[in-house]
Amino acid sequence: MNSVRIGIVGAGFAARYHVACLRRVYGAQVEIVGVTSARAESREAFGRAHELPVFEHAAAMLGQVDVLDICSPPYAHEEAILAAAAAGKGIICEKPLTGYFGPAGADGNYRGDRDSKRKMMEETMARLGRIAGAVRKSGTFFGYAENFVYAPSVQKEREIIGKTGAQILRMAGEESHNGSASPTYGIWRLAGGGSLIGKGCHPLGGMLYLKRIEGLARNGRPIRPASVSARTHQLTRLPAYRDAGFIRTDYHDIEDYGFMHVVFEDGTVADVMTGEVTLGGIHDYIEVFANNHRTRCNISPVGVVDTYNPRGGQFKDIYLVEKASTQEGWSRAAGDENFTMGYQGEIEDFVTCAATGAQPQSDLDLALDTTAVIYAAYLSDENRGAEVDVPRV
Ligand SMILES: NC(=O)c1ccc[n+]([C@@H]2O[C@H](COP(=O)([O-])OP(=O)(O)OC[C@H]3O[C@@H](n4cnc5c(N)ncnc54)[C@H](O)[C@@H]3O)[C@@H](O)[C@H]2O)c1
Repeated sequence: MNSVRIGIVGAGFAARYHVACLRRVYGAQVEIVGVTSARAESREAFGRAHELPVFEHAAAMLGQVDVLDICSPPYAHEEAILAAAAAGKGIICEKPLTGYFGPAGADGNYRGDRDSKRKMMEETMARLGRIAGAVRKSGTFFGYAENFVYAPSVQKEREIIGKTGAQILRMAGEESHNGSASPTYGIWRLAGGGSLIGKGCHPLGGMLYLKRIEGLARNGRPIRPASVSARTHQLTRLPAYRDAGFIRTDYHDIEDYGFMHVVFEDGTVADVMTGEVTLGGIHDYIEVFANNHRTRCNISPVGVVDTYNPRGGQFKDIYLVEKASTQEGWSRAAGDENFTMGYQGEIEDFVTCAATGAQPQSDLDLALDTTAVIYAAYLSDENRGAEVDVPRV
């Protein structure tokens, strides 16, 4: 495949940076065939803004693409994946891979926070089995869009682990900010959960990846997650919560803080913190404590640019950093967020792998393990933190 033809599903936040990154790929030729989304006005506006053809639905686009790039909300991922796999098309899928979205016909009255987490885990595992079966049967390319894997800081740690034969003993990681901008976030039946799945999937995916790299470097076998203990909280819905106006609060039925403690097959551990109650810009890192080194992988902020602005209005046309709620005072600004947060490396890897048939760094197995850990974590939380074995697809 000399040139990779890509069709984008979804016309929101993620689709915007996918287009920006696709247009900077150098390892293969990219043709963005077009975009589709659920709402006519959003796809038309996106098409105009990015000078792309617009399709009414994915089925209309599928015949003209090599890869379907799925940037729709989590509830819509499975349908698009199955359609692409059935048509023998490559797949890029945004995080989280999938999840549980309520019983058939669930409406605005559905409350995921009150539903059985065992049922959710079992149904999610069945869904993962369907996805894995269809993708493997089609033998098509699959890239799981976990940008933490591709952050330059995490790729440097990958090199350190690979070349020194390090054993990771413990890791800590976080993704937090002051609340997602997506209107579908905060509603379990559309997002599949709250902080644990929406944000926790990032540091979790990054840490599962590094443990995988350690095992592959040592004896050609990934080291996989074995069990998880977790707690979640709804801090902005506490009766005692005092809203100062800086943190999003309008969640329907999801947690806005979560903690997961993962134990790997070899007994080593990873701790994930994630929440919607963090001011000061998006807060993303993984810290690795190994037997021969220690690395702090900064993902955001990365400390490339520190700028001081005495009057907010001066910077009104200047992007500083994701989720900064002010531009006044000192800001740790992003030089090139698409690069430092891993989006550019991710899209580069996906396109070149789709063109050559190589295996991407962030693949289906990582997506499956990440999702299984998170739903086992929800079950643990239902039992106030009791340890749960991570099911396998
Ligand atoms: N890797 C990251 O850091 C990151 C950041 C943001 C979002 N995401 C992920 O990207 C995905 C989209 O999130 P977003 O923030 O762009 O959301 P968004 O709400 O900004 O955009 C979603 C788009 O999908 C469209 N859509 C909704 N249902 C659809 C359907 N059934 N079929 C086709 N299109 C549909 C909507 O019309 C909208 O254009 C989610 O899975 C999210 O978790 C990842």
